[in-house]
Amino acid sequence: MAKLISGAAMSHIPPIGAASDNGKTQDPYYKPLFDGFEPARKWMRDTKPDTVIIIYNDHASAFSVDLINTFVLGVGEEFEPHDEGYGPRKVPTGIGNPELAEHMLEHLIMNDFDLALANEMTVDHGFTVPLTTMCGAPDEWPCKVIPLCVNVIKYTQPKGSRCFALGKEIRRAIDSYDSDETVAIWGTGGMSHQLQGERAGFINEEFDTMFLDKLGPDPESLARIPHIDYLRDAGSEGIELIMWLIMRGAMKSPKEVYRNYHVPMSNTAAGLICYDEQQQ
Ligand code: DHB
Ligand code: FE
Repeated sequence: MAKLISGAAMSHIPPIGAASDNGKTQDPYYKPLFDGFEPARKWMRDTKPDTVIIIYNDHASAFSVDLINTFVLGVGEEFEPHDEGYGPRKVPTGIGNPELAEHMLEHLIMNDFDLALANEMTVDHGFTVPLTTMCGAPDEWPCKVIPLCVNVIKYTQPKGSRCFALGKEIRRAIDSYDSDETVAIWGTGGMSHQLQGERAGFINEEFDTMFLDKLGPDPESLARIPHIDYLRDAGSEGIELIMWLIMRGAMKSPKEVYRNYHVPMSNTAAGLICYDEQQQ
């Protein structure tokens, strides 16, 4: 059967992608952040998952505000970077894994998670920046990718507890896939940030540290956080953190192997955490 070998979560701040694309990673502002990515990149090279399931959100890019789905699974052959106004990022096209994605879709729908499916969709910074964070700037991404797009941009977003439960069902889907592939799962977005209004620039290090500390040992308590608390304690875009709970739901026995927290990056708290799945 396919084997889930690792999980990770990381922010998707657009300037991280721009710094990588424009050769600025060694500039004084960016260097400390990119230095903090190195151990995670080495871990990614060492563990070499065949496929990464990337839980991310679209920022009204592939899907305009005319159509916002709660959960969309990318079952297509490939996923091109979206043009977010500066031309598409010059990063590799994501190569999909339609067979595993179709298996996941069937398993999830038959187990009461009615995901939408996308045969074709472009992917924005929510998807490409985590790949940059974990893989640097290669000619091809080192793994296949399965995008799982979550609505976090428009109320009503799914509950944290629902995301956690979805992660558990994704794990059952992986465990029942007849293949010897290795799989990793990433939750992306966050951490605390607010990009708009009077509190623009709001960052809450205490909340972020609590979230990082509890994600491994006590995800159930994080899954009970209501939307209003994210808004108050993590800023209006902090709700992106519910995507980390999908990743965590898919893990049974995570061992934290690396963590990095860097404040600020743009207006945002940049978090990164990596777990090995301890095989039972
Ligand atoms: C920014 C955008 C995001 O989607 C995000 O999650 C964090 C930061 C930005 O534009 O700076
Ligand atoms: Fe975002």
